[in-house]
Amino acid sequence: MQKQLTILTGSARRNGNAFYLADLLENDAKKMGYEVKRFDVGLMNISGCLHCNQCYKNGKPCIKDDGFNEIALALKESSSIAFVTPLYWYSWPSQLKSVIDRFFSLYGKGELFTGKKTALLSSCGDEEKNKPFDGLIYSYEMSMDLMGATRVGTALFYNADEPDTVKKTLKKGALDKLEKKLLA
Ligand SMILES: Cc1cc2nc3c(=O)[nH]c(=O)nc-3n(C[C@H](O)[C@H](O)[C@H](O)COP(=O)(O)O)c2cc1C
Repeated sequence: MQKQLTILTGSARRNGNAFYLADLLENDAKKMGYEVKRFDVGLMNISGCLHCNQCYKNGKPCIKDDGFNEIALALKESSSIAFVTPLYWYSWPSQLKSVIDRFFSLYGKGELFTGKKTALLSSCGDEEKNKPFDGLIYSYEMSMDLMGATRVGTALFYNADEPDTVKKTLKKGALDKLEKKLLA
């Protein structure tokens, strides 16, 4: 069976850093024989979890039909998952956080990410190298651990407020190690 990668991006800037990184990852994964399911959730209209406890009542993870169930299916079928996102207020952009909130349905059903590899790629405007990503990384690590996923690593880019910063500064092969771990 063809291996599948799901990419969840968190930006609404089509010409921005997250999209550039996601394009690279998508192309490399396809070259490696992966089927890629990509959801640019910053451009979708997926709202948060209502905690209504109606998960799977109609056979689908969530009773809301706004695109999350399609993402849930892709995640279920994927062996690798990449979160590719800008840092917003030291955390996830709300559009992507809404999708993560909706993992509540999967967690409750025991549809965990066991055996799946995950990576986090993110950019921020701050020049300071250590602290800015602390909150995002904490949320990512705790959430993925709770979901039983295997975290393979992060790629973090600072001082990247211009949409083309990463494109201009990323060294050739800089993502190779992470991609190898994510897609091996
Ligand atoms: C709503 C909003 C919140 C942001 N919050 C932060 C932040 O907390 N720390 C930071 O360093 N940069 C912050 N930024 C800057 C973005 O993280 C940065 O420009 C990023 O590289 C944009 O990625 P993109 O080109 O993929 O959209 C914020 C930008 C926006 C629009």
